Amino acid sequence: MRTPLIAGNWKMHMKIADALDLVTGLHYGLRGAKAEVVVAPPFTALYPVAQKLENSFIDLAAQNMHYENKGAFTGEVSSDFLTDLGVHYVILGHSERREYFAETDEIINKKVLKALEAGLKPILCVGESLEQRERGDAFKVIGNQLGKNLNGFPLDAPLVIAYEPIWAIGTGKTASTQEIQDMHQFIRAFVGEFLGNSLAQETRILYGGSVKPDNAKEILGLSDVDGALVGGASLKVSDFSQIVNAAK
Ligand code: 13P
Repeated sequence: MRTPLIAGNWKMHMKIADALDLVTGLHYGLRGAKAEVVVAPPFTALYPVAQKLENSFIDLAAQNMHYENKGAFTGEVSSDFLTDLGVHYVILGHSERREYFAETDEIINKKVLKALEAGLKPILCVGESLEQRERGDAFKVIGNQLGKNLNGFPLDAPLVIAYEPIWAIGTGKTASTQEIQDMHQFIRAFVGEFLGNSLAQETRILYGGSVKPDNAKEILGLSDVDGALVGGASLKVSDFSQIVNAAK
């Protein structure tokens, strides 16, 4: 059985005071939630949020990390720094990192393997552009990203994959339930062939892209959808709580 996972990617939002208000609201509002709940604050809020969540069921993710432990990498944050704060998950390969910060599949692969080595659970994001989908290339693009990003992935390590069609992120457009289920099924089959059926059955595949309280139940009810990676709607206690409570 895969426990549903609902993760909030706060992106470049939330100063410390707002971050603490948000997690306090979530901690009290979501007690007894059936899904695993994870929040990914910006780096500047990670430490205070980690302290606030010390005795909470809410888990912590980082939005990115470097693949080296330490060194002359101005502005970067290593996996060691994250585990030092009690972070357990790390979002890797988000389309915004691929697009605006030139992260290649090879860089993402190094980060995924480094995260595991450090004891962090990677949430690997994959997704196609609208142009790629309209050309009929969506499955090819996702297969290609997965093959490169998961190169050398151990067969028994924890894996979360987030399918986030780029055209659905922050646009208010969601993929249709058929498009989501078809892609999630494809991703599970791909992981099965690439890394074995046992890992494929354990891998949680999240959907991301304009998940809101009013569409969460339908999306989270799909058989190969094991949770959601939520952007905009994760910044409000009531919206995020409704999404968490919609998990099956
Ligand atoms: P939105 O939910 O704002 O569309 O963002 C999705 C996302 O990119 C989560 O990582």
